Amino acid sequence: MFGNLERKTAMRSKVVFSGIQPTGTIHIGNYFGAIKQWVAGQDDAENIFCLVDMHALTVPQDPAVLAVQIIDTATLLLAAGIDPAKSRLYVQSDVREHAELTWYLSCVGSVGQLNRMTQFKEKSEAQKGEVRVGLFTYPVLMAADILLYRTTHVPVGEDQKQHIELTRDLALRFNATYGEVFVLPEATVPAAGARIMGLDDPTKKMSKSAPGSYHAVGVLDAPDQIRKTVMAAQTDSGREIRGDSTRPGVTNLLGIYMAATGRTQSEAEAHFANARGYGDLKKEIVDILVETLRPIRERYDELVRDRAVVREVLQRAAEQLRPTARATTDAVKRAMGVGS
Ligand code: TYM
Repeated sequence: MFGNLERKTAMRSKVVFSGIQPTGTIHIGNYFGAIKQWVAGQDDAENIFCLVDMHALTVPQDPAVLAVQIIDTATLLLAAGIDPAKSRLYVQSDVREHAELTWYLSCVGSVGQLNRMTQFKEKSEAQKGEVRVGLFTYPVLMAADILLYRTTHVPVGEDQKQHIELTRDLALRFNATYGEVFVLPEATVPAAGARIMGLDDPTKKMSKSAPGSYHAVGVLDAPDQIRKTVMAAQTDSGREIRGDSTRPGVTNLLGIYMAATGRTQSEAEAHFANARGYGDLKKEIVDILVETLRPIRERYDELVRDRAVVREVLQRAAEQLRPTARATTDAVKRAMGVGS
């Protein structure tokens, strides 16, 4: 057991960092995979949450739309429970050390390492002919995000685990070559909801950019929309409500149920043991999602009226973070022998 002093010291040394791209529709995959963990852990650590607008630029964006989406996504995160008194919520490009450290780290990592990133393979295939350099070096920018703040924990969904492994590799390589500058972070992935699949196709990850109105439940969707999407979800032949690899549709729905209720798989299966079919499971998920998301949507509708307040939160957080980001980057420069 920790004594009071040790507990405080342990708390102080835990630094949580995570990020989200301010593009597309923020969906329940983002919520259960990441945002819910961010909100729940706010009392246990120093928390830093970043709207990664520079990552968004790795695929084509409309500048006017992106500018609005940055503020809208920040508003959504505040509505979901990110508390500016406990956490720093800011925009990546407002702290220029992210770009600066990316360069130094890109001189440590190898092309071979980046070629192994599965997200790059998927995204570059989707872009065909015109793959941007930034899409390839995307994970290096992500490593810079994390390493700038002496991060110990990175709460993310399953799809980001490989990027955190790369971040650790880069930090290890750097420390081994130039001396101990970086803290090694670890990914924290939730027990349920770490990989929510598309409701229209349970073999594909639920994604912000996937087309089709029945693909995802948006965090801000109205109850009617939630009902339509969930009731239309693709299921499997049969009626039994049990999660296994032969039933991707039901497994995904059970996963959403588990993420929303905190129940384990066996508890969830026992709960539905007498259900008459998949319709019962879907109806219950609709009710739970409507109740989980309602307070977020209501708070969003209030906060969205005053964008100035949201901007102020973002700018204040960036100001507070700059000294740490500068100190890390200066330590990196000294270690590498650059600068005057
Ligand atoms: P992004 O914007 O794609 O997603 C934000 C968070 O949501 C999680 N997530 C999911 N979880 C469960 N099921 C899904 N279908 C699902 N889709 C997305 C993601 O794992 C993520 O945690 N590269 C990152 C952003 C980033 C970042 C960072 C994260 C940039 N720098 C530093 C952590 C630390 C991304 O594009 O996330």
